[in-house]
Formats: sequence, structure tokens, C-alpha cells
Amino acid sequence: MSDTFVATPEDRFTFGLWTVGNRGRDPFGHETRPPLEPVDAVHHLADLGAYGVNFHDSDLVPDGSSAAEREAIVKRFRRALDQTGMKVPMATTNLFSNPVFKDGAFTANDSAVRRYALAKTLDAIELGVELGATVYVMWGGREGVECDAAKDARSALDRYAEAVNACCAHVRDRGYDLRFAIEPKPNEPRGDLFLPTVGHALAFIERLEWPEMVGVNPEFAHETMSGLSFHHAVAQALWAGKLFHIDLNAQRIGKFDQDFRFGSEGIRDAFYTVKLLEDAGWDGMRHFDAHAYRVEDADGVWEFARGCVRTYLILKDKVRRFHADPEIGEALAAAKADELMQPTLPAGTAPDAIAGLRRERFDLEALAAQGYANERLDQLVTELLLGVR
Ligand code: GCO
Ligand code: MN
Ligand code: MN
Repeated sequence: MSDTFVATPEDRFTFGLWTVGNRGRDPFGHETRPPLEPVDAVHHLADLGAYGVNFHDSDLVPDGSSAAEREAIVKRFRRALDQTGMKVPMATTNLFSNPVFKDGAFTANDSAVRRYALAKTLDAIELGVELGATVYVMWGGREGVECDAAKDARSALDRYAEAVNACCAHVRDRGYDLRFAIEPKPNEPRGDLFLPTVGHALAFIERLEWPEMVGVNPEFAHETMSGLSFHHAVAQALWAGKLFHIDLNAQRIGKFDQDFRFGSEGIRDAFYTVKLLEDAGWDGMRHFDAHAYRVEDADGVWEFARGCVRTYLILKDKVRRFHADPEIGEALAAAKADELMQPTLPAGTAPDAIAGLRRERFDLEALAAQGYANERLDQLVTELLLGVR
């Protein structure tokens, strides 16, 4: 096997503690793997060439730990970070495992639950900032409903916004360098989740008190569950200046949230996603929110993690080949791909320019008859991905 696709910290790959630490539990079966110590995860990920590691508050400091226990855990973890040079670019809160959150966290009907969820999040923000995080992900795992009669959706959005605003207010008050990234998901574990897609989240953010502090964390699996193009979701987030984080994994449409190894399903969408991020020069973390198949043992987990980063690097190399390939270049020209980058109204939207447009005559027959040679281009991409170009 070639050694070309070996990760280095410059590639900015990150994993969550909960990803490589996933123990293979599913709704029908118990854990199939032993627990993984956070410190061991840091060392293994460093060996893999990762840039950093992310966590939920409870992944690192179990709920209910005393102040002294928290301090000892953080000290050990920080030592592992110092030894390896690993960073903590992102942190998040577990607002879904504890049964207290069964009716939601920020959108629970019971205001005591909402207040606890917010207090837990503020503590978790402190923990994240203490370890260097500059992005805070908000995934509303339980922010949803099965019985629509029980929860007013508009009020739930009010409460969701109130919670995000409170977190922003706290960060501003403390002067922290921290931005929030909302992670949409259509369903699972709730029947329907609020903010189900990237589009919903982007619209929600614009109605917050400090929209500039909040962006999105799109996940491959989640947009794909909705039957949507992940790469279009990421493109729109980039276009809006709102791509603060990304969750890379793999998923088949119509299935439960599979969180598979990046590229194991949907290789074309994975390719176009990598192309988008690399062409845009996006400087965020390439974060894998995925886990090993349940049939894997502890060694299989590291095969899984290596597979995620190798696939990203291989696809990045395919992006380079795409741009360098003369036949692809010709097919792109035939598709008029570059023409879309030209403004429709080069003279702007002043009345004269609009009047000029209205006087223009169009050869509709010729325009309708032309082909865009997309079949050739698409096949070339297929052949590139299949490794024959
Ligand atoms: C899921 C989500 C989570 C979140 C994580 C960080 O569907 O389980 O993707 O993995 O990304 O909780 O907030
Ligand atoms: Mn997921
Ligand atoms: Mn995720």
C-alpha cells in the first residue's frame, strides 16, 4: 500500500472522543467493545497524524463528578495533549443521554429542565474554553417531539433561540474567543427534530441576537438522511459565511443515522465535498463524526479511523487530478462551467442596464438546441474516482 496518504497535523483532521470511543451499542444490542480512556484516544489519534480531539462535557468529565475529580481528569487530559501536541478545537455538551432530557433540553416543556440544560451547557463551555476550544457545537439531539399536540413548535423555537442567545451573552461577557455551530438533523432520536436541515438552521440563526457568533456544523449523514445533497448544504453554508465546523462521515439515504467511515457510502458526494472545501481554501477542521462498525474490536476502531483520513487525502488527490486533467478541462468548457461565474448583468441593476436587458433579442432556438456535454464530464469524474485516470 502506498505511503502517500498519511495524515499530518497540517491536514487538520479531528475526531470526537465519542467517535473512536463508540462502544457499538445500538437500540437492539449492548456494547461490543470495551471503554476507551480519553488519554489513550489522544495518543492513538496523535499517532494517526490527527490535529486534535473534540469532546462532549460528559465524555471527558462524567456527569456528577466532584470539583476535585474534574480537576484531576482535566490535568491528566491536558498532560496527554501537551505530550502529543494535540489540540481541542471544538467542544460540545451532552444534552441527550440523561433521561432528564427525554422531552428535550433547551426546548423541554419543563422550565427546570431547560434551566438545567443551559447551566450544564455554560459549565461545558467553560471546560471547552479551558482546553482551548474556539468552536462550540450545538447538536439538539432531544430537541424535538413525537406527539405534536404536546409541544408548540413556535414556542420551542423561541426557547431554542433564548438558550443560544444566553450562551452568546455569556461568551461575550467573558470575552472568550468562541463561536457556536448548530448541527442540524432531521430525526433520531426524536421522531422529528427542530432545525432539521442546514437550511432551517441558517434561517434560524438570522433571527438570533448575535447572528455573527453562530454558524452551522453540517453532517454528511444528517443531510443525506433527509435525501438532500450534503455538498450543496455545505456550499450554501460557505456561501453564507456560516461554515464554522463540519461532521464528515457516510450514510445511505433512507436509513437510520449510520455515521459510517467517511467515504464508505456516497463516494461521489464525498468527493464533491472535499473538492468544495479544498477549492474554497476553507481553513476549518476536517472533523470525523463517525464510528467503527459494531462488528469491530478495538483494533478495528483504528482501521476505521485510518480509513477516514486516508479517504479524505485520496479524494483531495483526486481533486488535484480533476483540475490537472486536460480532458476534464475540455468537458468543463463544453459544459460552460466557468460561464456561471460571470454576472448575469455585468452593467449592474441600474434602470439603463435593466432597460438594455429588456431590449436584448435572444436566439431561443439556438439556446434550446445546444447540449452541455454533461454525460461526458460525469463519466470522466466516474473514471477518475474509479482510478483509471
Ligand atoms: C449524532 C450527532 C452527534 C453530534 C455530537 C456533537 O447524530 O449522534 O451527529 O454525534 O455530532 O453529539 O454534538
Ligand atoms: Mn450523525
Ligand atoms: Mn454529528
